[in-house]
Amino acid sequence: MEHSSRYIVGFAAAVCGVCSIFVATAAVSLKDRQELNAQLDVQKKVLELVGLMEPGASLETEEIQTLYRDSIEARVVNLATGSIVEDVDPALFDQRAAAADPDTSREAPPNQAKVRRVPEQGLVYLLREDGQIKTLVFPVEGKGLWSTLYGFLALESDARTVAGITFYEHGETPGLGGEVDNPRWKALWKGRKAFDEQWQVALKVKKGAAGPVEADPYQVDGLSGATITSRGVSGLVSFWLGREGYGSYLEQYRSERGI
Ligand SMILES: Cc1cc2nc3c(=O)[nH]c(=O)nc-3n(C[C@H](O)[C@H](O)[C@H](O)COP(=O)(O)O)c2cc1C
Repeated sequence: MEHSSRYIVGFAAAVCGVCSIFVATAAVSLKDRQELNAQLDVQKKVLELVGLMEPGASLETEEIQTLYRDSIEARVVNLATGSIVEDVDPALFDQRAAAADPDTSREAPPNQAKVRRVPEQGLVYLLREDGQIKTLVFPVEGKGLWSTLYGFLALESDARTVAGITFYEHGETPGLGGEVDNPRWKALWKGRKAFDEQWQVALKVKKGAAGPVEADPYQVDGLSGATITSRGVSGLVSFWLGREGYGSYLEQYRSERGI
């Protein structure tokens, strides 16, 4: 059966209209779910880093939320002064949104992580044991080859020893830069020293293999075939632990404890 051009265009427009309504409805109705999943993913990563959850363990949503609520203390920090911001609720603070907003961020100086804007305030996640801080977790981000990598770096209570690193979002190539997700590579970070004796950030991802932790505390194996991603990871560690990132907070933390 032959149809006129008008009929065909009208039919196509009607199909497009119905599909767009369907997609828009799905996007709107799933928004809360997506936000919850993103929040849960962050909570899981933090719990894994501080050793309260086995990586990849499949816990129920409520179990994760309860574990997180009972054990992790999130704080908002003024990055310039290092002091805790008491009047901002960490649960409602969106650090990435703050970094993107010119009113709540400033331009970053040129840096190896290619961070363009730094938020005035940043989150810190603390795990306490017998009232004492046992692990500090910092959000980190920086450019790899194709994408910005977003993750967390955890330090032990000495503010020097790495407890772990993890990434929850990136667009690097699977098998190359995407190996930042590889548990075997992430395990190489544990026990390395982020700062040298003068409290300068010293930890780097080198090209090639690093030695064991005791012999080579300031280096981690490079990702093979992914020098640019590796360089980005070195850059983001040094940026976020440095003066532009959590340096002032860490300085205050150390001086309060006489470290
Ligand atoms: C398809 C493709 C994907 C790549 N993905 C990455 C990547 O995710 N990260 C990275 O650093 N290099 C990646 N590279 C390699 C870079 O282009 C570059 O060659 C590499 O970083 C050099 O590292 P190497 O000195 O360890 O070989 C990719 C190359 C190709 C062809």
